[in-house]
Amino acid sequence: EQVIQNNLTEEVKNLLSSLPKESGWMISDHLYQYQNSWYPAIHLQALLNIQRNFQALDTDLVLVTNPKCGTTWLKALCFATVNRFRFDNPTSKQHHPLLTNNLIYFCLSFSATRLLSTHIPHASLPDSIKDSQCKLVYLCRDPKDTFISFWHFNNKLRKNMEHGSLEEAFEKFCEGVVEFGPFWDNVLGYWKMSLESPERVLFLKYEEMKKEPKIHLMKLAEFLGSPFSAEEENDGVPEEILKLCSFDNLSNLEVNKTGKMPMAGFEFSVFFRRGEVGDHVNHLTPEMIERLDKITEQKFLDSGMKF
Ligand code: A3P
Repeated sequence: EQVIQNNLTEEVKNLLSSLPKESGWMISDHLYQYQNSWYPAIHLQALLNIQRNFQALDTDLVLVTNPKCGTTWLKALCFATVNRFRFDNPTSKQHHPLLTNNLIYFCLSFSATRLLSTHIPHASLPDSIKDSQCKLVYLCRDPKDTFISFWHFNNKLRKNMEHGSLEEAFEKFCEGVVEFGPFWDNVLGYWKMSLESPERVLFLKYEEMKKEPKIHLMKLAEFLGSPFSAEEENDGVPEEILKLCSFDNLSNLEVNKTGKMPMAGFEFSVFFRRGEVGDHVNHLTPEMIERLDKITEQKFLDSGMKF
């Protein structure tokens, strides 16, 4: 906490003292409510910096997720798809950058497209993103699996620090107190944008991508303005990209097994756990499942959005 305090501007320190505050169930001890969403202090500082200074380009591609909804997968798929012509043979990945790099700090501009990634809710996006013609891909995931993924992730990050109980964390998640949450508001902001501007926002669901990965990769490539040609399809390029970006492949790479995040110091392996649909049944009681489903149903009422 002290290190974080030292990295905040006076403006943010003052702002924090005026904001609603909750004890965090994640790596950060506290979350602050700003523009109806919850942030650790360090992310709030980053948000203000981005809102003021970030200049979007019409050619940018912004990948947006609630945390733990498959960001790592989406980044890999987009990176491999957008850059597939840069490598001598896109299906022979001997030297592919994904084999030796983790994309956690992500602003990669191998191609003309800058690939950026964020969890910021739609309402808080910098004006320059809203006003530009840049494209966004939003990936969401069933909140029950998202919560369980978050729970394990935070426990790994907290290591020897105290973990609250699963029940306490669940309560907070249901109340919306989670980084970049409430979960449902984050989804709905981009869901609505995707309905209003389908040419700007591609809205994807983790579960559907797991079920029919090729169909969704083809859709993604088309949305990115780089559809797979008949020849590429014949050559099995989409399948090769899916293999390269698969959970099994990425999680078994040396960089992701033993690599660490610079500065923050935690292992890239924390971003890989099971990569499956439905693991929440192994952790949540039927009552908890029913409660979360009810909240989801109510929150999405009349929106047309469902899991
Ligand atoms: P689980 O904890 O359910 O296994 P994020 O990347 O947004 O932090 O999300 C992490 C979740 O995505 C974790 O879910 C992780 O295992 C899963 N994941 C990571 N890489 C993946 C991949 N290549 N394909 C599918 N799921 C992946």
